[in-house]
Amino acid sequence: MIKIISLLLLLIPATSLFLFNKIQEDDLPQSIKRGASVYEANCASCHMPEGEGVPSVFPPLAKTEYVKNAKRAVGIILAGQEGEISVNGTTYNTAMAGIPQLTDQEVADVLNFVRNSWGNKYPIIKAAQVKTERK
Ligand code: HEC
Repeated sequence: MIKIISLLLLLIPATSLFLFNKIQEDDLPQSIKRGASVYEANCASCHMPEGEGVPSVFPPLAKTEYVKNAKRAVGIILAGQEGEISVNGTTYNTAMAGIPQLTDQEVADVLNFVRNSWGNKYPIIKAAQVKTERK
């Protein structure tokens, strides 16, 4: 009897851990899907549909240091970005207004889309991380 109970005690956390990991994995593809529409509505007009930007006016979003840095990317969407920056070897000195009216989930989704498109491949950003940055 004790054997059975201890076996059960071992199995329960193991299966719930397995299921939890499963859910976590499924999060990213769904977030990317939602993020594509957020991108179209809020970013594509400047950064272009394929994230290629417009040289010297709107910087690209493919393989840039800013997109790679999750914390910084969240900050740019919430608070904007202005002043001279160098993106993949080209200098930009214009301004992007923040879009704080996006929800935490929308910010996470659009960044998950951007960070996993056009050759980018970076880990998931969660709404909770955006919430922390917003404060
Ligand atoms: C009105 C035009 C405009 C819109 C809309 C816009 N941006 Fe930008 N974005 C810019 C400009 C201009 C800069 C560069 C500002 C500078 O020169 O400092 C920039 C910079 C950036 C950067 C840092 C540089 C880089 O290319 O890696 C990121 C990341 C970024 N934008 C992401 C986004 C995302 C995601 C959205 C949509 C949620 C968005 N932007 C919407 C114009 C825009």
